[in-house]
Amino acid sequence: MLWTIFLLLNGLLILVLLYSTRTRRKNEPPLDKGLVPWLGHALEFGKDAAKFLSRMKAKHGDIFTVRVAGHYVTVLLDPNSFDEVINDTVRLDFARTRKQHLRQIFGLQLPSMEPTAQRRWMEQHFRGLCLSKLSSSMTGHLQSLLLSDHKDCGPSEWRQGGLFSLCYSLLFKAGYLTLFERRDNAEEVYNEFRKFDNLLNKVARDSLSREESKTVNSSREQLWKLLCPSWLSGGSETSSWQQSYSLFLQEQGVDAEMQKRALLLQLWTTQCNAGPAAFWLLGYLLTHPEAMEAIKSELRCLHFQENPTINPLESHSTPVLDSVLSETLRLTAAVMINREVVQEKTLLMSNGQRYRLRQGDRVCLFPFLSPQMDPEIHQDPQIFKYDRFLNEDNTPKDKFYKDGKILKYYTMPWGAGKNMCIGKEFAVTAIKQFVFLLLTHLDMEMCDPRDKLPPVNPTRYGFGMLQPDGDLRVRFRLKTKSYEM
Ligand code: HEM
Repeated sequence: MLWTIFLLLNGLLILVLLYSTRTRRKNEPPLDKGLVPWLGHALEFGKDAAKFLSRMKAKHGDIFTVRVAGHYVTVLLDPNSFDEVINDTVRLDFARTRKQHLRQIFGLQLPSMEPTAQRRWMEQHFRGLCLSKLSSSMTGHLQSLLLSDHKDCGPSEWRQGGLFSLCYSLLFKAGYLTLFERRDNAEEVYNEFRKFDNLLNKVARDSLSREESKTVNSSREQLWKLLCPSWLSGGSETSSWQQSYSLFLQEQGVDAEMQKRALLLQLWTTQCNAGPAAFWLLGYLLTHPEAMEAIKSELRCLHFQENPTINPLESHSTPVLDSVLSETLRLTAAVMINREVVQEKTLLMSNGQRYRLRQGDRVCLFPFLSPQMDPEIHQDPQIFKYDRFLNEDNTPKDKFYKDGKILKYYTMPWGAGKNMCIGKEFAVTAIKQFVFLLLTHLDMEMCDPRDKLPPVNPTRYGFGMLQPDGDLRVRFRLKTKSYEM
């Protein structure tokens, strides 16, 4: 018995050593395995990916391979070379990693579903007439939630709260009511979802403590129950985005249990980014008075009194608000674009160098570091400049350069290529509408004018919009006269 254990351990040790003795071959990117066998840089990566990858960039340049929990990940940080990864759908694959994530995070398996079918369905439902119906329903819900939130307050009575909680809960609930059309449980779904969302990074990295694991499992179960509409369990309900999504899953041969679980995936995809984005945007405005003044003066020029049935944001362009949104997303959207190398590939960099990528490795683009925080592209990249995306004549600025070359990707909050955000237009409209409603209906100020924006939670890099570590205390009241700014 002892001998068997001894031999097994020896075998395991040899395997670990063999695996960790990988060396850099000719034409491969610089290799950095880290000191810990198998784990490599996993701990540093999970703790603060932006800090870790900045350190690697300073050491190795725009391309390097790191070992992370048994995987070799080639990180590419030159936006002029991104298309080599984004456009290669033959040698690089994203479906396998995605499937793994769906199973791990959402307990979801969709074996019968054609991989691109879901995306096609989503695209149909977030454009044209469907999009304008969804957007106007969203605006209606935002307005009524904002006003009903204040119905018990006297006319000039101030209320206090955290800006993040305010933005996340209002946008989440309005989005939920728009897409899921359930009026009875929005508050409960929001509270349960926040518990799940708070632990999402740990679920994805498989690093939950036993207690956290219990919380996630119970939240997930609870959300599956709360989201399950009566018509999935035999009843009937009005036709909604959610209902037509479930019908689509049925047509794809997805069973009732997986249909229920897929609703949580869609809740997360559609509701987890807009609230945090609105928080950062308003937070930057509150902490940068010159930006707030520029936005207010742009909004004052909109002729919203002319015809109250026409939405002023639809009938007027708002270049300053657009620039503020782009600048906010540049600073706080931190997606990672991951691919698996399914066939050996030679990657051609924009500087003419070629690198070999090994089959079985992973490739990762992290646009947050470059282009978004790259000082060669954006001067003083850590600083919020509300007019960064404006030309002098107030037209949108879309020409940025690196190494003298004009950039196709100068900010990438929405991802790129085949995985690009499908809800971009819906999200932009919703966030702008939310900011507009807040500024035109509420007086809002920081509880302590000396406060600063909270820092970002560094464990959320790679999961879309960043979230703050803490909140910004604000006080607000209904304006006595709407639209007076
Ligand atoms: C500020 C807000 C948002 C940001 C920054 C954002 C960003 C992103 C990014 C980066 C992706 C690609 C993810 C990947 O490569 O894995 C994505 C995908 C997607 N987003 Fe968004 N998003 C936002 C809001 C929304 C909203 C409001 C909706 C819908 C109501 C939405 C719907 C989707 C869908 C359906 C996908 C596709 C997922 C897939 O390919 O399966 N997004 N989003």
